[in-house]
This record gives sequence, structure tokens and C-alpha cells, in this order.
Amino acid sequence: LSAMASRDSLAGRRFVLTAGPTQEPLDPVRFLGNRSSGRMGFALAGALARAGADVDLVAGPVQLTTPPGVKRTDVQTAEEMLAAVLARLEGATGFIGVAAVADYRPVDVATHKIKKSDAVLELRLQPNPDILARVASDPRRPELVMGFAAETRDLETAARGKLAAKDLDLIAANRVGEGLAFDQPDNALEVFSADQCWTLPRQSKQLLAERLVDIIVETLDRHST
Ligand code: CTP
Ligand code: CA
Repeated sequence: LSAMASRDSLAGRRFVLTAGPTQEPLDPVRFLGNRSSGRMGFALAGALARAGADVDLVAGPVQLTTPPGVKRTDVQTAEEMLAAVLARLEGATGFIGVAAVADYRPVDVATHKIKKSDAVLELRLQPNPDILARVASDPRRPELVMGFAAETRDLETAARGKLAAKDLDLIAANRVGEGLAFDQPDNALEVFSADQCWTLPRQSKQLLAERLVDIIVETLDRHST
């Protein structure tokens, strides 16, 4: 029996979320980024707050208003996002990585604007820290650690692989491409734990967020029984 999250089912619990893209500077006027709008993360932050949770939202650069009751911190890069998350981890019940964190950043950031020339320009990139994996292996690991996965193929295999590799409690996976997911008002998700899965058909990110809160409450309840 799965109860719908009531207005105060998460009272007294704090969640730390990441949302939006990160931007990795190349020079003072350019960056590497991605198409994440931040909508899913902001919707989830709002839904958690409506269920009574305290919510710390660490947001990359997005054009969105902060949902009522949510404490928002703005960052630009993956490294800034990691530092903001670690500073808020102590005592949190849950961490949810919704951000589309840039996997790489430029090795060199030019002090001055890069000038054009006729030659091929090669960029050297180095891996960014994996915020979600870092949180899951931290001594202060929250009781619930949840990730998102955007995949263009082999959705379930890839999502379950990330669930295991990053030691997560839950992962929400969506298909990207062909007008799906990124920068769209609605989405469809498949959510996996080690021994359960939930299919959430295409609906608004607001409604999806409500269903995700139900799954989060159910998962926390299972932990405590
Ligand atoms: N994530 C993160 N820090 C990173 C990269 C990803 O916290 N540097 C988190 C995302 O917020 C998401 C989850 O990890 O919750 C999965 O992100 P995704 O890009 O799908 O997976 P990756 O592990 O980066 O693998 P790949 O991009 O190669 O599929
Ligand atoms: Ca990635």
C-alpha cells in the first residue's frame, strides 16, 4: 500500500538538492554548458517543501523562480556546486542530485577573451568531481541518496549501473532526444531502487515531482521498518 505524501510527511527532515546545468568557463565571456532548464529539480524542491521538508537547493545558472519555502544557493561550476553541497550535508536526511553537472571542465581558463584565428582550436578538458558519488561515499552520507540519469539508449541497464556504481538508494531515469526531457515542461521517468521499480508516464514535471515525493517517503519508511 503506498500512501500519498501528506502535507507534513517530511516534517523535521532536510533535503539537499542540486538542479540546473553547470557552466565551466573557457575565458571571461565563454563557457561549456548544457541544455538543462532546472525545471525538474526546482519542481522536486517545491514538492518536498510542500510535504513539510526543509530544502536546500543548490542551483546552477537557470531562469526560474525559487519555489516557496526553499532555500536557494546559486553556483556556476561543478566545483562550486560540490563545495556548496558539502557545506550543507551535515544532518541532512536526503541528497538528490538532479543537476546536469558538466562531466568536464577546461584545463586552462584564459584570463583574457580568446581571439579568433584561422587555425583549428583544440580545447583540453579535465574530469569534474562526481558530486553524487562523492556524497554517497561521505562519512556524513544522508539516509537517502538519489540520482537522475538522462539516457539516449539502454535506459534500464544504464540507470541500474549508475545506481550500483554510485551506491544510490534511488535513481530516476529519463530518455533524452527527440524533443524529450531537456528544456521541456513535461517528462516521463522510470525510477529504480535495488529491488523495486516505478514507471511514471509522461506528465508535467510538477506532477512528476509529487509522485517522486511519494516514492521518497515510501523508501524512507522502508528503511525505518
Ligand atoms: N552527477 C554529479 N556530478 C557529476 C556528474 C553527474 O553529481 N560530475 C550526478 C547527476 O546529478 C545525476 C547523476 O550523477 O544525478 C547521473 O548523471 P549522468 O550524467 O546521467 O551520469 P554520469 O555518471 O555523469 O555518466 P555519463 O554522463 O557518462 O552517462
Ligand atoms: Ca554526465
